Amino acid sequence: MQKLVIRGEKRLNGEITVQGAKNSALALLAGCTLCSGEVLLKNCPALSDVFAACRILNRLGCKSRYYDNCVQVNAGAVSECAVPEDLMREMRSSIVFLGAVLGRKGQCELSYPGGCELGPRPIDMHLSALEQMGVRINEEYGVLCCECPYGLHGAKISLGFPSVGATENIMLAAALAKGETVIHNAAREPEITDLGNFLNCCGARISGHGTSTVVISGVEKLHGCEYEVMPDRIVSATFMAAAAITGGELDLRNARACDLEAVIPVFEQMGCQVFTYDARIYINAKRPLKAVRTIRTLPYPGFPTDAQAVVMAALTKAKGTSVIIENIFSSRYRHVDELVRMGADIKTEGKVAVIEGVKKLYGARVRASDLRGGAALVLAGLAAQGETEVEKVCYIDRGYDNIEKCLREVGADICRKTS
Ligand code: UD1
Repeated sequence: MQKLVIRGEKRLNGEITVQGAKNSALALLAGCTLCSGEVLLKNCPALSDVFAACRILNRLGCKSRYYDNCVQVNAGAVSECAVPEDLMREMRSSIVFLGAVLGRKGQCELSYPGGCELGPRPIDMHLSALEQMGVRINEEYGVLCCECPYGLHGAKISLGFPSVGATENIMLAAALAKGETVIHNAAREPEITDLGNFLNCCGARISGHGTSTVVISGVEKLHGCEYEVMPDRIVSATFMAAAAITGGELDLRNARACDLEAVIPVFEQMGCQVFTYDARIYINAKRPLKAVRTIRTLPYPGFPTDAQAVVMAALTKAKGTSVIIENIFSSRYRHVDELVRMGADIKTEGKVAVIEGVKKLYGARVRASDLRGGAALVLAGLAAQGETEVEKVCYIDRGYDNIEKCLREVGADICRKTS
């Protein structure tokens, strides 16, 4: 088992190049299943989830290869239409392969993703949308058997909630379906825009991606292309929080401020100076941090649930009382008990977390229980007095490409140990 060992109280200072976006890369890799030609995805982060997506592609009969932050995929032949259970378990977001495999093969078999570390993760909206597009679904012993006896066809679909995964699955299934699909109340996350742009590069006809109405006109075939994955906005937010909690100064390269319009003002309220220019975000946190107005996590363009834990870590040291309301996932405060063990003063009740800023955090042995919560513990360790050990690094590795190297290069005392 691997752990990160951090000796805290070092101000971070320097430049970090932000990795490509995990959530975009995973949807794009699923999208490769639809392409008859070769795809080269650049700026693909080296993450366990990305490698799992490559393994799924290979199991489906495609050829995928990861090298130098690129994934090369040849989906000329997709021979299989079943995603084995071990791979579904490895990466829950593999549900996005459902729409893609259905689009390419007209049938798909995969196991139900079930609950996970953020609480129950239902896929009712994904399934009901696909049914409206002509898919028949049978669930047997946790395995979803999906087929389209008369082919996939376009449909007008209205989502009860702008689900990211459901929007992606519909876009993927609709790209090669017969006729036009319209998604009302679609998710507007930047990763949806990236997926639409990628599919259009491959010959799809999609418009409105990034707005709440997405229109997909099915085409006969998709070809390959070269495409650069967008920068990871949550990783940018994490490094901003790292600067904030250590009173440091960071210049983030390959960072897109326009995707962080709900996040940057929170750091400014904390008293940080933030300048954005070209593809860079500069943050200076030399002044003591202050509490902020209530943060409510919401679908994009609201404050992202994925940035909740890392911003909370910074707020543990902000003078005054801050409140967070987590509206997206029911079980997303599992990092709180561990932060409290490090000296933070946080109380939660249901969706609400109340954070009283403290003067000092103290190093402790803590355990990550999900990806972003794990990152929050690393940030707390960077600011804490003494030594912090963060166990279960495997969660953090799902979303951060060598987090310790990035942090070490800007002055953190952090290393990985195997125990
Ligand atoms: C994606 C992101 C995840 C992010 C989340 C919200 C990926 C791989 N993951 O997850 O990092 O935290 O968006 O921005 O891109 N829901 C239903 N029924 C459904 C689908 C969703 O009830 O059929 C509920 C979920 O339980 C959750 C909410 O809708 O409460 C949002 O989920 P969704 O937007 O679908 O998130 P994911 O696509 O799973």
